[in-house]
Amino acid sequence: MSNPDPALIEDYRQSHLGKGGQYDANLAAQPFDNYMAAWERRHLEEILWSIAPGGVGRALDFACGTGRITETVATFARESIGVDVSPTMLEIARSKCPATRFELVDLTSADPDVGQFDLITSFRFFGNAQDALRDAALDAIVRRLAANGRFILNSHRNPRALYARLQQLTGAADSGMDLHLPKLRALLGKHGLRIVLLRPIGAWMFRDRLMLDTPADSARARRFEALFGGSWLAPIAPDVIVVASHA
Ligand SMILES: C[S@@+](CC[C@H](N)C(=O)[O-])C[C@H]1O[C@@H](n2cnc3c(N)ncnc32)[C@H](O)[C@@H]1O
Repeated sequence: MSNPDPALIEDYRQSHLGKGGQYDANLAAQPFDNYMAAWERRHLEEILWSIAPGGVGRALDFACGTGRITETVATFARESIGVDVSPTMLEIARSKCPATRFELVDLTSADPDVGQFDLITSFRFFGNAQDALRDAALDAIVRRLAANGRFILNSHRNPRALYARLQQLTGAADSGMDLHLPKLRALLGKHGLRIVLLRPIGAWMFRDRLMLDTPADSARARRFEALFGGSWLAPIAPDVIVVASHA
């Protein structure tokens, strides 16, 4: 599982300042992250087709990084904006998504008039960020989410996942993981959001060997994801996509 750099853990805002050049390659090189990234994209596309078959008006990708998720969102939106605090991550994003406007801005401390959004996404941010930053980010997001808008995020560092529990037993676990589903649900609720859809990923995954033998695009992965894709398995899945709306 990918962890934030412990030296920078005090403020997640600092975590990716110089990482733009390596981020995509690092993600692809880690079997866990590579698998989750592929399924995050697949689910996100499917969810967007189901909730907005005709596309959405305005979309914001918060903490967009290198544009991994922005690329998908941009094809569904008439106007898309990506924001991040890392210039090197944004440089890669700009090269991938020419139709998207990218802003180097921290919406948790600055308040530019970027308007309201029908869709806001934020991937691989909430699982890593500290509680105070999670709260500040949700404040910024909720204020900009249109009345009927949807907020889609993922949480990929679930300490209650089967996979993480086994790593805890063998001492290989990352002790910094704290965003289990009840905590995420409470956090969203505190900011006036309610969960309307959950898509667990990798709930079947309990040891590395099984994951290494199951490439994300294999028939076996599709079979496993279909079998273990019920929302009731989200509490024990290592990664989950969450769709939320105003409560
Ligand atoms: C692990 S990356 C995820 C990038 C992208 N969303 C993805 O899923 O590939 C987390 C990103 O959060 C950004 N970030 C951290 N704090 C932020 C903040 N306050 N506002 C915007 N971006 C922030 C980092 O710079 C980094 O690019």
